[in-house]
Amino acid sequence: MNNFNFYTPTKVVFGKNSIDQVAAQIKTFGGSRVLIHYGGQSAVKSGLIDRVKTLLDEAGIFHVELGGVVPNPHLAKVREGIALAKENDVDFILAVGGGSTIDSSKAIAYGLGEPEFDVWDLYEHTRSPKASFPVAAVLTIAAAGSEMSDSSVITNEKTGQKRGCNSDLCRAKFAIMDPTYTLTLPDYQTMSGCVDIMMHTMERYFTQGNVPDITDVIAEGLIKTVMKHAKVLHADPANYESRAEVMWASSLSHNGLTGCGHQGSDWASHRLEHEIGGMFDVTHGAGLAAIWPSWARYVYKDCLPRFVKFATDVMGVEPAVSDEETALAGIAAMEDFFREIDMPTTMKELGIEPTEEQIKELALGCEAAVGGQIGTAKLLKLADMEEIYRMAL
Ligand code: NZQ
Ligand code: ZN
Repeated sequence: MNNFNFYTPTKVVFGKNSIDQVAAQIKTFGGSRVLIHYGGQSAVKSGLIDRVKTLLDEAGIFHVELGGVVPNPHLAKVREGIALAKENDVDFILAVGGGSTIDSSKAIAYGLGEPEFDVWDLYEHTRSPKASFPVAAVLTIAAAGSEMSDSSVITNEKTGQKRGCNSDLCRAKFAIMDPTYTLTLPDYQTMSGCVDIMMHTMERYFTQGNVPDITDVIAEGLIKTVMKHAKVLHADPANYESRAEVMWASSLSHNGLTGCGHQGSDWASHRLEHEIGGMFDVTHGAGLAAIWPSWARYVYKDCLPRFVKFATDVMGVEPAVSDEETALAGIAAMEDFFREIDMPTTMKELGIEPTEEQIKELALGCEAAVGGQIGTAKLLKLADMEEIYRMAL
């Protein structure tokens, strides 16, 4: 087993009515003047924002609010949040929503932590974060895992660049996770979320060298659990137990647990998808489903033992005559699963048809974002990235 650091400081408050604890948790973590940050309309319509405001009022906690975070959250909204928080002397950011709202909150927190710098520098990686304000999350969609991850992904809407910043500084102090909030999600968002959750573990799964048994068992169990409950929710979206299984999986999949002790994670599918998200504003999980089969077919020979194990131990494929056939059968089985839950397996099915020029632009953007090359299953350079985009058309 390789040495590793596992740091997951977020306090999880899970289950029905866990929102009742929001004010006490904010006080525990030193918040007294709160920015409530949220997305479009879902959390307003459900009454959740009003409920949060009432609970904070009852506890005597000052608050201001800023809604309007869009999926693939914009830098302009982050700047608006930083300005509003400064005007109101805010000392705590409460995200009410999904990955986009949490990531926007984390970016605001970075901006407040080092007000002398431009926050976008962190996402262009021209400097690293040194300070941040505290953030917490009230989760309304199981998907990105931002409620426990060290990551924040922001889109510069002027340039179309979608970029991430990773640091333990932005990890949420606490996450309120009530699966009932996810009952109002459209099927497409639920299924995209399930794909994203699976992919956070799959990015870690396709690695080189030995992987500890304990890590494999957790990873394989997590992927199979999400597949099982995604199918349940596709037919029965009101199923609370499945909502709960998927919500807890979203956090465990991206808090580092499923990658402990191996030689490094891949992340190429995510990086390739982020460029698509920046250019075409697609739903992240659906974008991953559209790119993964092509990525897998492009790289599997360079990571054959892992693709064979994935085929047999995750997808339940019977070993074929050759390892290559087994690996390919595993990829096809995952593609079948994506189809079964009405997720795309190509960019056309995702609803986009990039031109050759746009493919080159996507690959150049990806190359720039990753500093030249990316991948552990197979190291990908510019020409490889272009080829995977072409295969995924
Ligand atoms: O804006 P509202 O009206 O709330 O609608 C949202 C949005 O349209 C809706 N929604 C959320 N909760 C709902 C609901 N609709 C009905 N009922 C509810 N309870 O769902 C839509 C998607 O929301 P969003 O926050 O964008 O979803 P998700 O959690 O999938 O976040 C996606 C973003 O996270 C980034 C993605 O790239 C993307 O920008 N990621 C962040 C990561 C991280 N920070 O660790 C890791 C991921 O790999 C990912 O890159
Ligand atoms: Zn993701």
